[in-house]
Amino acid sequence: MDKTAAKARIDQLSKDLEQHNYNYYVLDKPTISDFEFDKLLEELSALEKQYPEFLSNESPTQRVGGQITKVFKSVKHKYPMLSLSNSYSKEDMEDFDRRVREGLGMKGNDLFPSEIEYVCELKFDGLSIGLTYIDGKLLQAVTRGDGVQGDDVTTNVKTIRSIPLQLKGNFPKEFEIRGEIFFPRKVFDAINKEREDIGEPPLANPRNAASGTMKMQDSSVVAKRNLDCFLYHMLGENVPHQKHYDNILAAKSWGFKTSSHTKLCTGIDEVLQYIEHWDKERYNLPFEIDGIVIKVNDYKQQQNLGFTAKSPRWAIAYKFKAEQVSTELQSISYQVGRTGAITPVANLKPVLLAGTTVKRASLHNADIIEKLDVRIGDFVYVEKGGEIIPKIIGVDLSKRPANSKKTIYIDKCPECGTKLVRHEDEAQHYCPNETGCAPQVKGKMEHFVARKGMNIDSLGGETIAQLYDAGLIKNIADLYDLKKEQLLPLERMAEKSADNLIEGIEASKKVPFERVLFAIGIRHVGETTAKKIAKKVRSIQVLLNSTKEELLAIDEVGEIIAESIAEHFSNPENKRIVDRLIAKGLQFELSGDQQQAASDKLKDMTFVISGVFEKHSRDQYKEMIELNGGKNSGSISKKTSFVLAGDNMGPEKLKKAESLGVKIINEDTFLEMLK
Ligand code: IVH
Repeated sequence: MDKTAAKARIDQLSKDLEQHNYNYYVLDKPTISDFEFDKLLEELSALEKQYPEFLSNESPTQRVGGQITKVFKSVKHKYPMLSLSNSYSKEDMEDFDRRVREGLGMKGNDLFPSEIEYVCELKFDGLSIGLTYIDGKLLQAVTRGDGVQGDDVTTNVKTIRSIPLQLKGNFPKEFEIRGEIFFPRKVFDAINKEREDIGEPPLANPRNAASGTMKMQDSSVVAKRNLDCFLYHMLGENVPHQKHYDNILAAKSWGFKTSSHTKLCTGIDEVLQYIEHWDKERYNLPFEIDGIVIKVNDYKQQQNLGFTAKSPRWAIAYKFKAEQVSTELQSISYQVGRTGAITPVANLKPVLLAGTTVKRASLHNADIIEKLDVRIGDFVYVEKGGEIIPKIIGVDLSKRPANSKKTIYIDKCPECGTKLVRHEDEAQHYCPNETGCAPQVKGKMEHFVARKGMNIDSLGGETIAQLYDAGLIKNIADLYDLKKEQLLPLERMAEKSADNLIEGIEASKKVPFERVLFAIGIRHVGETTAKKIAKKVRSIQVLLNSTKEELLAIDEVGEIIAESIAEHFSNPENKRIVDRLIAKGLQFELSGDQQQAASDKLKDMTFVISGVFEKHSRDQYKEMIELNGGKNSGSISKKTSFVLAGDNMGPEKLKKAESLGVKIINEDTFLEMLK
């Protein structure tokens, strides 16, 4: 392919891929399979590597992330990012409408129509973001911050597939559009499931989770989190229409994701109907809302009404009440998680709350039980707020039975009887019997065989329980001793399923080291951390002999992870399991290919990569640095050994490197260093 043809193909692929992103993430109507999409993306990525001069900032390949931001730049908002005043009742809303009408001098006669045109919108529960577009290209994304200035999170925002990097149609030359970044419920639940798998406490609510994700340093991790974004507010000197609703429709036509539930209403009665409708219907939405936003549609009217010090007079938020009910606490049970963490659960007399029947509520830990003084037989108040799991917020003491007894927290594991421990500074009790407590062992096995681990899909939770209960497996290493003859007598185990199981286990011996390291289930070692550790240590033997300082030098490894790794392998049983897995032929070192590329030539050196390169991509350079013992960093400091600079290195970085006397090298010099 010659250069012209390559450019044409790159343009076509970029356009097609963005259209597919749009179909999938904005319209929710994909027209090709994920597999086909990935193939097109791979083709584009390969062409861009071959012809880096055609790589644009808006390319769909930029959505996978990879850039590390250590410190987010603070940016002043061109237009202050105000919040809204809140209202909580029909009366509050009627007052708002009265203030608006009076403010506009509408007395209800023919000259002054008494009904205002309002736009009603859902109030998405996430974090607000301001996106600036120039010439149809996403230039900058800034968080709200204190309303005057926020953080530049552009690299992270670019990974959100429903946010267009390049607009289509007839858009203004420059404008800002604001909206809300949020987690769809399903995505949020999946993240929590994953956190539970690696022994991390679940994230309490989607809003905090979205904020936390936006502040992550590694944009490739953000890319995997599947955030979404609705846009709802346009600002700029040249916006096409004089009414908010029309501008939102225009934004939709340029490729933005706007809510189909936004409604134009005339007069406060229609607004109240909208509120009433969504107060009930909100539980059926695939994302969380915490209220309704009501805005005066006409910009001239908005201008006339103006602002108070904190918020516009032309808009208001109606906040839904967190629904509460009272019901009887029938019993308290204690669940044991994969990591041994004990969670007390309240078993309630079933009751309807926020659209679902609630039978259970989390009681979190011993301190909460103590604080609430909840007792079996009590009538408790249950609330569903921002959190997914309903919580108990208090006790109706007037209904407390006379003979009720104070709840005494368990001191032994309900599953295996081992005495529970509680670490200093932690609220949770733990069962320390990691290798002998049934839910912990079964949970560890489920984690081991999961898709992101050993990927033994012929072995699900039920079969694991069956094998465990039959005494055939007591730990993950036992899986590799299983024989078909042992499986056949089991219930629901046909010849074919037994074959599949044995084959699946055998095939898992080829799973690469980084995934094995994730699968063995070291507390706090997630998928990304396992990958970083594997690349750095290259084999389990090196990991086992690493000092805490050596571990801390690995990207992503802090005190907690370093200690957790040490603790894991200090348990002789865990060590014995690893020895058995090594003997069975699992991958406990990087593959030949990965090894060949590795050395410690860059040991103790820290690199900052900046600019665009010809011979390899930035990600490839990052990987080369890590594989050869070096460290990557996002910002230049006294500790930086080299700045690896390509074309278009930012002037700020250049100035900083020069002022600190940090050596700047080009890609040829770098590749020479590795020879
Ligand atoms: S309009 C000046 N519309 O709620 C008008 N805000 O306190 C600015 N929010 O900070 C906001 N959904 O983060 C607007 N449909 C919506 C919204 C919305 C959620 C958030 C936003 C804002 C806060 C209001």
